Amino acid sequence: MKVTSFVSLSLLAGTLQAATIHTKVAILGGGVSGISASLNLTLAGIDDFVLIEARDVLGGRAQDVKFGHNVTIEMGCNWVQALGTNPINLLSQKYNMKTVPTDYEDIDYIDHHGRHVNGSKEQQAFSDASDRMYEQALKRAKNNLVDISSRTALSLAGWIPRTPLEKAIEYFGYDWESGEDPERSSDVFGILNDEANYNGKFGHDLEGDRMNIDQRGFKYMFLQEAERVFKKKNDPRLKLGTTVKSIAYDKKGVTITTDKDTIIADYAISTFSVGVLQHRDVEWKPELPDWKMEGIFGFHLTTYTKIFMNFDRQFWSDHEFTLYAHPTSRGLFSVWQNLNAPGYFPKGTKDNVFMVTVTQDYAHMVEAMTDEQVKDQLMATLRKMYPDETIPEPTDFKFPRWHSDPLFRGSYSNWPIGEVDQHHENMKAPLHNRVFFAGEAMSKDYYGYLQGGWVAGEEAAISVVQCIKKKKCPVATYYPEIVNAKMKGNTVLKKRAYIE
Ligand SMILES: Cc1cc2nc3c(=O)[nH]c(=O)nc-3n(C[C@H](O)[C@H](O)[C@H](O)COP(=O)(O)OP(=O)(O)OC[C@H]3O[C@@H](n4cnc5c(N)ncnc54)[C@H](O)[C@@H]3O)c2cc1C
Ligand SMILES: *[C@@H]1O[C@H](CO)[C@@H](O)[C@H](O)[C@H]1NC(C)=O
Ligand SMILES: *[C@@H]1O[C@H](CO)[C@@H](O)[C@H](O)[C@H]1NC(C)=O
Ligand SMILES: *[C@@H]1O[C@H](CO)[C@@H](O)[C@H](O)[C@H]1NC(C)=O
Repeated sequence: MKVTSFVSLSLLAGTLQAATIHTKVAILGGGVSGISASLNLTLAGIDDFVLIEARDVLGGRAQDVKFGHNVTIEMGCNWVQALGTNPINLLSQKYNMKTVPTDYEDIDYIDHHGRHVNGSKEQQAFSDASDRMYEQALKRAKNNLVDISSRTALSLAGWIPRTPLEKAIEYFGYDWESGEDPERSSDVFGILNDEANYNGKFGHDLEGDRMNIDQRGFKYMFLQEAERVFKKKNDPRLKLGTTVKSIAYDKKGVTITTDKDTIIADYAISTFSVGVLQHRDVEWKPELPDWKMEGIFGFHLTTYTKIFMNFDRQFWSDHEFTLYAHPTSRGLFSVWQNLNAPGYFPKGTKDNVFMVTVTQDYAHMVEAMTDEQVKDQLMATLRKMYPDETIPEPTDFKFPRWHSDPLFRGSYSNWPIGEVDQHHENMKAPLHNRVFFAGEAMSKDYYGYLQGGWVAGEEAAISVVQCIKKKKCPVATYYPEIVNAKMKGNTVLKKRAYIE
């Protein structure tokens, strides 16, 4: 990294030096993907790079805060999902993170009248249908059949929810994981993602997600990894509190303009979320090509919003989950988590935290409301859920607004129906072998998860290392046009059969 020139800008308060910095690689974004890319460059012996992050801290969507008297809560990612050699699981072990297994069947069901009921029959029916759907989707993928929505797939598997309880069970089993409803989600790609995470390279049958309850915060392990790269305090290569405004690229290199300085790099690795790319929060010069934008706009970044309430006493059950079958609105304030479950918070904690999650439209809805309005709605819901209780006012209340945040624009990606393989390849394809794309959404196998971000960062770095060391980048391809299955000459037409 070389600082070559200074231009003085007069500001109201004084003079700011706007520098032009020359470097080999600019890593854009300091979430897990940017950290992983910087680590991989370092391990490959490349130290001439900068990492630019708008926030004052690394970690991106791994974000914890102190809440109540003194507990750490996770506003973003919370689980190690898929064990085995999943790099996230390995990091969790390396740093001895305190995690607990999650028992997704440990549920207190509350029906739409506020009665505690036994939902195990409905739960079993949903779980059996999900298993059938899984098998069918793998067959579909193997036989190269056209994708269908997860709603169609669930219906074909015999699951047709009718009651509020059945809808709540489905919401918990589907949306609460995928971040979006089965109507918008791809059946085939969704199941392939499950298969890659839980039954692929990391090992087989890796069920048993572990929730981070480490009071150092989940991001601790990523910050530790970043310290392997940025060993010295105030390493000038780490540019925190610096926002990228525009990225100009051509065959010769990349010029990045930030709110502080200009960075001229041979290569750039963008790790911005697909939501940031969709919302045009960063300017591209020239504009990203249409074939790429079609893939980007077609993908989904969901919003998964955890709302935390702290009370001076626990009036809910000891189960890990409480599932409320909302009488009118599927998924509204339905999935509640007891953060006081045995073994979660440190002994002697004075806080009683009940957390509810909303996704998709309801997540957008709460973001547009004031905290006070959301709190009122939640109190009204709790009174319906526990008609015989006097519900105390919460002593603390907090939730993040992921969707409106221009640095994120949502929580994690979901593969929607309508996006095909080629779209995803186009979304990820580099620009002139100068700008490479990482971030969780770009991982075809592990999108949506921390490992998606980690692996995509590593892959982009490996490409850049090859460009630098071999003076020749890996061969990259894209699809200028994506044609549909009914094109002439396509075997699909030949498969027409007679009704007998
Ligand atoms: C609520 C929630 C729950 C989740 N739960 C889980 C879970 O349990 N398990 C799991 O595996 N995954 C989970 N995830 C997903 C996981 O957190 C992400 O996959 C992962 O953190 C993404 O990392 P990334 O580096 O790809 O992206 P980010 O973390 O988004 O990193 C991109 C970085 O770019 C920065 N940036 C953006 N714009 C600019 C700009 N203009 N200039 C400079 N910097 C900029 C951002 O500040 C950010 O730090 C969850 C996410 C959320 C939000
Ligand atoms: C980094 O890249 C190398 C190849 O250059 C690879 O072998 C390695 O596993 C990658 N990841 C890490 C974390 O080193
Ligand atoms: C808060 O919690 C942390 C970690 O659990 C602990 O180290 C610290 O002493 C606590 N502080 C107070 C004021 O209780
Ligand atoms: C719910 O019903 C099932 C049988 O359908 C039974 O095995 C289970 O123990 C019941 N659960 C509770 C919590 O009563």
